Amino acid sequence: MRKAYEIGFGNSEQELVIDQLPLSGTLPEWVQGTLLRNGPGMFNTGEQNLRHWFDGLAMLHKFTFRGGKVSYANKFLECNAYEEAKEEGKIAYSEFATDPCYTLFDRVKEVFNPGFTDSAKVNIAKLHGQFVALGEPSLQVEFDPETLESVGVFAYDTKVKRHVTTVHPHLEDDTIFNLTTRFGRVSNYRFMKLEREQPPQLVSKQRVKEPAYIHSFGMSPNYLILTEYPFVVNPLSILFHAKPFIENYKWKPERGTRIFIFNRHNGKLVKQTVTDPFFAFHHLNAFEQNGELIFDLVTYPDPEIIDAFYLDRIKADDKKLPGGEIRRFRLNPNGKGGVTSEILCDEGVELPRFDYDSLNMDGSYRYVYSIGVNREKKNSFYDQIVKSDLKTGKAKIWKEENCFPGEPVFLPNPDAKREDDGVNLSIVLDEANGSSFLLVLNSSDFSEIARATIPQPVLFGYHGNFYKTI
Ligand code: CO
Repeated sequence: MRKAYEIGFGNSEQELVIDQLPLSGTLPEWVQGTLLRNGPGMFNTGEQNLRHWFDGLAMLHKFTFRGGKVSYANKFLECNAYEEAKEEGKIAYSEFATDPCYTLFDRVKEVFNPGFTDSAKVNIAKLHGQFVALGEPSLQVEFDPETLESVGVFAYDTKVKRHVTTVHPHLEDDTIFNLTTRFGRVSNYRFMKLEREQPPQLVSKQRVKEPAYIHSFGMSPNYLILTEYPFVVNPLSILFHAKPFIENYKWKPERGTRIFIFNRHNGKLVKQTVTDPFFAFHHLNAFEQNGELIFDLVTYPDPEIIDAFYLDRIKADDKKLPGGEIRRFRLNPNGKGGVTSEILCDEGVELPRFDYDSLNMDGSYRYVYSIGVNREKKNSFYDQIVKSDLKTGKAKIWKEENCFPGEPVFLPNPDAKREDDGVNLSIVLDEANGSSFLLVLNSSDFSEIARATIPQPVLFGYHGNFYKTI
């Protein structure tokens, strides 16, 4: 039997188009639409292997639910990084934690023209009707949701070469907000706003000497929240590309975590405060109550989680994966005083989802769906799905022997009376069968409703979204 970690961090076997996947169980009638997911499809090229979970070359997956049946297709995201890997058998662009093997001549050349990857592998968004694969470097790739073929390149900020964008834009009606970090002689964080048919607009700008690695940000009805963990970089080392992207960042806990609050209507910085050092990838919800700004994050005491995703460490299986904690922060955006925080649920989680479409910026939200690590076992990767109840602090768990689930996308029942009336969709790697299945869970009691079996394994992925129409 091939080990799950060998399969899930290997190479995808084939690009498939399947009209109907074998299905056990019965899908609810209201589950109609398309789940699009992004994630790695290749970790090994002929000459060189990628080293980190966030390095794999992007592959798109599509599950369409219609009339109680599920169809499936998968395809590598067409981009230069993938073409080079396929045609030349080599890594030609800098990924998150792996650089191409440079000769001295290349090294001299690359210093003047270092290439970030164009393999946008982390998330998917529908931006003003266009489907876009999102990656942390500046380039994002538009694709056709029918065929999964690439259409072209999309960028928030076309003038500057060296900047990164989060893969978690916030959407309000038809307006898209995102945070970019520009590296330069003067570096800055920039909140950008995109309205339909308009060029990107700058909402707020914050100068910074040593920018932090920031994967997401918070947005409430009136504020934009920039949480700056003390995991920072000297911008020169990004500009001159001393090491693979993430290895240029250093943990400086003595700085604490700085929190910047901007009024998102006029762009002004209304508050800046500092709290204990911590690290996070994901903001959850943010909302306002009685003059307080409240925002939730999945936090870690330090950025060890990034090291924990090196494939050598996952495969060695001798260290546990750190679990993120759902922590709630409170501050007064217009008055004095700092920020306070408390842990809402102590189950270790990551890749958190909630009912964003209905409850974004709404403080009544109660349930978060994530992947997590079974504390009773020594696992170096995620092996359960967790439903966290933010009100009681309790958690419901789905797990199955030798199974490794991915992000559980929440899909609400359109006739729902309760927040957790819906289903969670998660691609699960089944080690014993050497394949993957799409699990459909009842979000309320976490019982299995159905599973659709894919005839080959799907590598461990990141984010995706469900669309009623594509
Ligand atoms: Co993310």
